[in-house]
Amino acid sequence: MCYKQERKLTNKIERDFTSLKKAVSGIRKSLKQGSDIDDVYSRLNALEVRLNSQLEVMSKFESIANRTKNAYDELLLTAIKKNSLPDEVFFDIAQAPDVRKISDALSQNGICIIRDETIVELARNAQSEMNDFLEKVKDDISKKIYTELDDVIIDGVDEIKGGHNGRAGQDKAVLHVRGGADDGLVDVFNADRIFPSLAAIKEGLRTGYVKDVIDRAIPGMEFENINVYINKGVTKTRGFHYDSRSPVVKIFIVLTDVPDHSYGPYCYELGSHLDEVTIEESFSGIGFTSFRKNDAYFSNYKNVIACLGKVGDIVISYQHGSHRGFPQSPDRTRMMGVQVLRPKKP
Ligand SMILES: [Fe+2]
Repeated sequence: MCYKQERKLTNKIERDFTSLKKAVSGIRKSLKQGSDIDDVYSRLNALEVRLNSQLEVMSKFESIANRTKNAYDELLLTAIKKNSLPDEVFFDIAQAPDVRKISDALSQNGICIIRDETIVELARNAQSEMNDFLEKVKDDISKKIYTELDDVIIDGVDEIKGGHNGRAGQDKAVLHVRGGADDGLVDVFNADRIFPSLAAIKEGLRTGYVKDVIDRAIPGMEFENINVYINKGVTKTRGFHYDSRSPVVKIFIVLTDVPDHSYGPYCYELGSHLDEVTIEESFSGIGFTSFRKNDAYFSNYKNVIACLGKVGDIVISYQHGSHRGFPQSPDRTRMMGVQVLRPKKP
């Protein structure tokens, strides 16, 4: 549907609403004035007919809007597959790149990818610690109930209140099985408490060059909890969106190879964090269309990329820029360590 048609339909809905409101206040007036009850009934019946036809128009509008949004998302996924990762955001630590260069790339693009052979071994170990653990608790996970074990809480039914912060604030690691739109996603909060290799990676991020890169690009950020995401056949993912208007940085540590798009790579629109107008518009919401609040509804298809990569790769990403996960094939699994950084509290 083009903009003109959309506007026409929106105007019609608005006009109909105004006239329906008038009809309702007319009936209310008649009741107050003690009009004949049969007359009131017949006006109510007429109103019901009009309401039904209004609902039909609305559902037509909604289905067109949904199809438009889906087509738009598909277009961007196609572009992601065609676009290759530009050299300017990729750094190999073996070639001793300057912290300044990595940091400039991060602040200009909102993302950078670092290949660091020195953490590959740790990342592989973290992957097998994770697999052993998942094997150990698979029965508890499948029960989808709240289970407290020695070192981890399995929150299979959203029992822990307070969402992300509630789970991150527990004394133990928390394994959260997500449902709904994220069906297939398991999120382990404070995963460093049960996976020693991830704890070692976390320590390295906080004390080494990654911290220097972030401090230079976006000063005043504080390291928070580290999680692991396990995506198993997550075939439906949310389209491009912003997590917040204020700065949030995530460091992703790739724990399983992501050789192609079927593995569900993390995707980003380069430079989108700088587009203040679009971000602001996105958070104000846009009425009838299928875009939800904080969805990115203007994306430059030339700038959308996927972070394909290998175990041990480090992706630093501004979450106040536009991003999404690529839908996975049903038989694929992807694991990532996720370190969150937010502005230091005063
Ligand atoms: Fe997000």
